[in-house]
Amino acid sequence: MPELVRFGVSMDPALLEKFDQLIAARGYSNRSEALRDLVRAELVRQDWTDDNQPKAATLTIVYDHHHGDLTARLTELQHDYGDEIISTLHVHLDHHNCMEVLVLRGQGSRLRLLADHISSLRGVKHGQLHMTTTGHDLP
Ligand code: NI
Repeated sequence: MPELVRFGVSMDPALLEKFDQLIAARGYSNRSEALRDLVRAELVRQDWTDDNQPKAATLTIVYDHHHGDLTARLTELQHDYGDEIISTLHVHLDHHNCMEVLVLRGQGSRLRLLADHISSLRGVKHGQLHMTTTGHDLP
């Protein structure tokens, strides 16, 4: 582990109290680790504005598999994005509803496009793209 640098942060007491409540609720044992994670989250968010480095993401969708030709259209689209979809997980939630998790890697703009295409299909009830990082350039 590289040497850590200590630095002081000035903050309004009321804001600090809110911060402490937030991180306690999330299970952090100290402010430093919580602050590091906040910084990393912002770096990942910023990184998604740059299309040069590959990104990692998951897309979770919930849909009714009885809906028209939806399953055929989903398969078709997933083949179109075969380079970006690393893996998929399918769970039969009940008689009608399926949940699918698509594990993605590739150019950020293309992953967003993929998520929009799939989520906007008629019959897809909910789609959520979780944008994360390959971890490559993140200390
Ligand atoms: Ni199913």
